[in-house]
Amino acid sequence: MAYSEKVLDHYENPRNVGAFGKEDEDVGTGMVGAPACGDVMKLQIKVGKDGIIEDAKFKTYGCGSAIASSSLVTEWVKGKSLDQALEIKNTAIAEELALPPVKIHCSILAEDAIKAAVEDYKKKHNG
Ligand code: FES
Ligand code: FES
Repeated sequence: MAYSEKVLDHYENPRNVGAFGKEDEDVGTGMVGAPACGDVMKLQIKVGKDGIIEDAKFKTYGCGSAIASSSLVTEWVKGKSLDQALEIKNTAIAEELALPPVKIHCSILAEDAIKAAVEDYKKKHNG
């Protein structure tokens, strides 16, 4: 399977790899798995007092497309509100990375991870 340039770029130079403290008040953590392949993605957001996502980090145990998808969304969510982050669609990720059909679920994993991170943050702050 040939990876696109953009996938290779994010795969070789992943942005924002790492983790924040899971218990930190200003952090939301999303952990999702892909039943299709067993890959796991952890994505965290750090939210400012103004409700804007200041920073994001990820750790992905998975294929190149999953790593590229998570790297890309950590870049996309920065500077967004929580509601704007929830609007990120896997189709936009797949399009940006030119993912082939068999790798679409990798981008869905990234969409699910960001949604889970926002949910976790909201839960910590009473919905
Ligand atoms: Fe094995 Fe994605 S299916 S790494
Ligand atoms: Fe399963 Fe990419 S996340 S193949």
